[in-house]
Amino acid sequence: MRQIGICIGSTRPNRVYFITDELVRIGQFVTLSYTDGGEKKNLLGMIQSLERDNPYLPETIKTTQQAESIKKFSEKENTIKGEIHILGEIIGDRDSKVFLQIPRTPPLPASEVFEASPQLLKVFGAKSKKFVRIGRLLSEREEVPVYVDVEQIVLRHLAVLAVTGAGKSNTVSVLLKNIINLGGTVAVFDFHRWSLKSKLTRNGKKAVNHIHPLINPASLKPKEFASFIGIKPNAYVQFRYFQTCL
Ligand SMILES: Nc1ncnc2c1ncn2[C@@H]1O[C@H](COP(=O)(O)OP(=O)(O)O)[C@@H](O)[C@H]1O
Ligand SMILES: [Mg+2]
Repeated sequence: MRQIGICIGSTRPNRVYFITDELVRIGQFVTLSYTDGGEKKNLLGMIQSLERDNPYLPETIKTTQQAESIKKFSEKENTIKGEIHILGEIIGDRDSKVFLQIPRTPPLPASEVFEASPQLLKVFGAKSKKFVRIGRLLSEREEVPVYVDVEQIVLRHLAVLAVTGAGKSNTVSVLLKNIINLGGTVAVFDFHRWSLKSKLTRNGKKAVNHIHPLINPASLKPKEFASFIGIKPNAYVQFRYFQTCL
């Protein structure tokens, strides 16, 4: 592993500040390494913010001439520092699977910062057949594919949150494509008529089946909704589970 920097200032379980001599990138993955009470610890983190500074060029400088003349002798004095968001403590990588745990103690001050190894970035890889590929890491120079567990997505609740234009719709359509290719069926309440443009296919055939809404599901009572999806009136247990999902 290549060292790229060292932590400075106070540390917290979820973030540290660091200083570096290299032009690192926002979003880049790093590892933090230190020994605490004889125990060696490794953390996985992501560079959250960066700033470059020159101690000879304070914000109080008044004229451009002054700044120009300082620039000439102080160019080599530029420093790069930033913030690392800690994603988890690496508690082992068996069978090319990496396991992370939420850290409960702040890292040791002056912990060393390393470039995350490709082996470690396998944490984003497929851990079983239930994983589907949704893309690759943009922040890494090498190709690092990113997989998610499709079972976790369909069994639990999932929210895709980001600013407009960040790629939410694209992410959802990549997920839909993967679920359809696995033989799944998805019901999409499509308020923005996105599916009209969709070219989703299964076995070469168009996979989108438009059903025009005649009722507003949001205004249905749980009992009415249950009867629509085929839960029998005497299926109390099923109905109780169904109600908790609403
Ligand atoms: N992973 C991606 N790689 C490249 N372009 C993307 C990616 N995701 C989205 N885009 C593009 O960015 C734009 C906004 O994406 P979109 O999914 O509509 O964002 P959102 O739904 O968050 O507003 C679109 O033009 C889309 O083609
Ligand atoms: Mg969108």
